[in-house]
Amino acid sequence: MSQAITSVLQEHRIFQPSEHFRRHIGPIHVPSMDAYRQTHARSIADPESFWGEVASEYHWISPWSKVVEWNLPDAKWFVGAKTNACANCIDRQIDSGHGDEVAIIWEGEPCAPDPEVRRLTYRDLLRETCRTANALKSLGVRRGDVVTIYMGMVPELAIAMLACARIGAAHSVIFGGFAPPAIVDRVHDAKSRIIITCDGAWRRGQIVPLKQNVDDACAKLPDVEHVLVVRRTQSAVTMKPGRDLWWHDLIDSQSDTCPCEAMDAEDLLFLLYTSGSTGKPKGIRHTTGGYMVFTAYTAKMTFNLNPDRGQVYFCTADIGWITGHSYIVYGILPNRVPTVMYEGAPNSPREDRLWSMVARHKATHFYTAPTAIRAFMKWGDQHPKQHDLSSLIVLGTVGEPINPEAWIWYHEMIGSSRCPIVDTMWQTETGGHIITPLPGCVPTVPGSCTLPFFGIDAAIVNETGEELEPNKGGLLVIRRPWPGMLRGIHGDSQRYFDTYWSRVPGMYVAGDGARRDERGYFWIMGRIDDVINVSGHRLGTMEVESALVSHDAVVEAAVVGMPHEIKGTGIAAFVTLAPDFKGATGDALRRQLGEHVTREIGAIARPDMIRFTGALPKTRSGKIMRRLLRDIAAGKESTQDTTTLEDFSLLAKLREGDE
Ligand code: PRX
Repeated sequence: MSQAITSVLQEHRIFQPSEHFRRHIGPIHVPSMDAYRQTHARSIADPESFWGEVASEYHWISPWSKVVEWNLPDAKWFVGAKTNACANCIDRQIDSGHGDEVAIIWEGEPCAPDPEVRRLTYRDLLRETCRTANALKSLGVRRGDVVTIYMGMVPELAIAMLACARIGAAHSVIFGGFAPPAIVDRVHDAKSRIIITCDGAWRRGQIVPLKQNVDDACAKLPDVEHVLVVRRTQSAVTMKPGRDLWWHDLIDSQSDTCPCEAMDAEDLLFLLYTSGSTGKPKGIRHTTGGYMVFTAYTAKMTFNLNPDRGQVYFCTADIGWITGHSYIVYGILPNRVPTVMYEGAPNSPREDRLWSMVARHKATHFYTAPTAIRAFMKWGDQHPKQHDLSSLIVLGTVGEPINPEAWIWYHEMIGSSRCPIVDTMWQTETGGHIITPLPGCVPTVPGSCTLPFFGIDAAIVNETGEELEPNKGGLLVIRRPWPGMLRGIHGDSQRYFDTYWSRVPGMYVAGDGARRDERGYFWIMGRIDDVINVSGHRLGTMEVESALVSHDAVVEAAVVGMPHEIKGTGIAAFVTLAPDFKGATGDALRRQLGEHVTREIGAIARPDMIRFTGALPKTRSGKIMRRLLRDIAAGKESTQDTTTLEDFSLLAKLREGDE
């Protein structure tokens, strides 16, 4: 199991939904625990009627013949229905007379002296989305194609996604922090012929050379026909004639109207690549109808969103990850609450940036990751204290287990001890929240993501699928399909079955170890596969190992998670070196290897610790003893049975440090 940050604070207090929340949130969607229990029970006993009712709140072009069809491991939701996810986000609001309300509040990173702010109404968003959709069509993009998007956090990113959805093309967004080889793998796997990017992205006052990275990737991608480039940083870029086009040249001349394609509920909406325990990142497939309903509905319930109440929702995630897809774009726009999108780093130009944004935009909802909260704590209380955070009503966290210290600080310092915290547990694969408190009724306990969302039949089981008694650690599973679940891994149905459905027959295995307490609350203990959660970002240890061994100095590498004060889990690499390598040694080589991994994957994969060793500890059958390495990386005495170790003396050497 990967090592989450260890907590010193034992916090067992229970926090009841607050009076402040009740007074300011507007109608409370689930006002009591009885209401929660009854609705949850009904959603499990009769998913057809439950989800049919929920779905009828959203946009449909023609109705379904059946709510769900379950043919393990394949599920279909809203069978035969036609809809369009873009219309559900935009047109629906305009058609109901709300076109002039603000849909997106965007803030750029540079402050000279004031930050640039753009407010797009639903009508603005429709115009820009239609122009972009027409531009994509003019480049030959057709229904069913996959368009790759590799951009910074600018409004054009959301517009590009919505434009794809409008014309029935799927998007594949690649996080702007990934390096060219990671772009190559994803574009190649998705068979994308079009890439949308920016000249550069602002990050802590520096420019990330997005276009240059795309150019480097394209050297290995002969099938890319066009690269569409948004001008953002004004940095010098090379435009390849015939292939590269400026966004403003192409889009400004397009018509403002573009009809929505009538998509089947099960047509692909997007691919999003995420790390697994083996091989290259996998393209998680999300389809139109179920994802659209699940994200909009979970957003509404978990954050208790209410239009017409002056709510402003601010999620600090990057759209390059699932949190941004679901809870900046697809889940929030249908709720008609403005969604704040921030371009840059949380400490640019100073560590109070996000609090200044909360105060200036009067955010009522703030959603971030535990790793960010730990960084805020380290930066000091003076930063939030400088700003008026009294607009806040609901706080959220996502991405990794939250340690009680961070939870309490968040509650007291940001929420003035009066805002409920929703600790939302979910995954790229689940599309939306699966276990989370509902802020109007579920009492919270720091560190627990509490109770399953409606329609989620979650349990803790052993390897044979038997439910375990309270407080026994086991596998987190979901025992029946839900609308937002992934529909497969792009191009690899066997891997889909093997990864999620084979370990415990008939159940979705999330890949997390967890327990349930006497109250029925879930506590996530960490990944049970070779995936680590670094600053809330998911990484396969094997990806980092492959990057390391692609360096001439390295013969073999083993990567494990280790406790890290800010990141939650840091990356520890044990590396054996080529005896004939003539280059740098010691710290200089460590630096080189770190830079090499950054170039191969991205800065998020750079190891926090690299230890050189003459050999890696292996079992007699040749398997690397990772658990042992995790103990060593954490500085713990190993309790593991080492009798199968090939070389006992190795263990002592590894503990001592470099050979
Ligand atoms: O281990 C769980 C952890 O993040 C994993 C999913 O990562 P990813 O697909 O990148 O999605 C992250 C954003 C949804 C899970 O398997 N995780 C996510 N949220 C929580 C969490 N662990 C504990 N508590 C959470 N609230």
